[in-house]
Amino acid sequence: MGPGQAERTNMSETSRTGFVAGLEDVVAAETRLSGVDGEAGELTIAGFPVEELAGRASFEETIYLLWHDTLPDAGRLADFREELAVQRELPRATLDLLRAVAGDEVPAMDALRMAAGTVNPGTDEEEALALVARVPTIVAAYWRMLGGEEPVDPDPGLGHAANYLYMLTGEAPGAELTRALETYLNTVSDHGMNASTFAARVIVATRSDFVSAAVGAIGALKGPLHGGAPGPALDVVFEIGESSRAEEYLREKLGRGERLMGFGHRIYRVRDPRADVLAAAAERLYMTDGDRELYELALEVEQTALRLLAEHKPGRNLQTNVEFYTALLLHGLGLPTQLFTPTFAAGRVAGWTAHCFEQRAADRLIRPQSVYVGSKDREWVPLQER
Ligand code: ACO
Repeated sequence: MGPGQAERTNMSETSRTGFVAGLEDVVAAETRLSGVDGEAGELTIAGFPVEELAGRASFEETIYLLWHDTLPDAGRLADFREELAVQRELPRATLDLLRAVAGDEVPAMDALRMAAGTVNPGTDEEEALALVARVPTIVAAYWRMLGGEEPVDPDPGLGHAANYLYMLTGEAPGAELTRALETYLNTVSDHGMNASTFAARVIVATRSDFVSAAVGAIGALKGPLHGGAPGPALDVVFEIGESSRAEEYLREKLGRGERLMGFGHRIYRVRDPRADVLAAAAERLYMTDGDRELYELALEVEQTALRLLAEHKPGRNLQTNVEFYTALLLHGLGLPTQLFTPTFAAGRVAGWTAHCFEQRAADRLIRPQSVYVGSKDREWVPLQER
């Protein structure tokens, strides 16, 4: 039995002590940033239903809203866009680091985690601005380096979302693609006390800095139970290839005890409202100028997966989560699967930094308890007697 298994056995016994596995249903903060109603399937972002905000706001407006709890007027928005533009360009240290790790073909999320750590210490406001501004620049520059190409400098005339696509491809995107990406970034900008946000808040609560919090949050987002699911979710659609194979393929996966990526959620017991927002954006994208066959195949895979999950876990109501349509939308935008999670980070960094401001104001160390379930009163055995 490995150490992990021993721990799990002990943990199940500790539920009598008040320990809640995974902190499920434990309230860890009060926040005005976003509220998730898992029973009703509703997400409120700084007062707006996600459906109201996501398709209308520019990403700059959403960041401003999260940070200041109000929408900017035209003057403030212009100033804020300018402040982001100034910060968007990468310093030499960041570029050097990215070049070094591109040589080793480090995965993009790891490169992002390392490069985010090169943001210089400053005030909370300076760090927040640099983090939000640079995540897309880091991801785009790194992706081009991996492909043996030179990074494309940001264009100060373009907004945040358009710049990301521009820096990836070297071509300014049209309005339709920019709108689709902004809808995505807004949709994932914040989501209650998700794992990466919690990680960020724990770090800032020690009076540490925002850069450290973002680095920790990126590490948490990377995992397949959080932000790492959309790439594998789309891979499944590609591997299935045609709808007649969906049932057999998914049954086999479930039979092997594997989870279907893009389905299920800790909080939502009904369909994730973000899935609907992204599904509508994906439909627009694929129906105007995209691979309709892939879109239709994905819908059929989704329906088959939902039917099989209902059989597999009756009563659990496993529904489509944000990651399934994230995969479809980001693929429609021309992004490779390796960039799905880094692009999630480009959206969620708005929420992380906003939570850092909130936690800074609360100024309360987050330090829960644990229950000791190990052995007691052991006596030291010298090496030669073990
Ligand atoms: N496929 C198959 N079975 C599943 C799935 C799934 N997608 N999701 C949950 N289950 C099963 C579990 O295996 C578990 O079964 P068990 O009781 O026999 O062990 C049961 O349903 C309950 O699942 P939990 O693990 O208790 O649910 P939890 O709240 O911890 O998990 C999670 C939520 C991690 C998202 C889970 O549904 C999952 O792993 N989904 C696939 C990965 C994924 O899509 N991640 C992205 C999440 S969205 C986001 O973070 C932005």
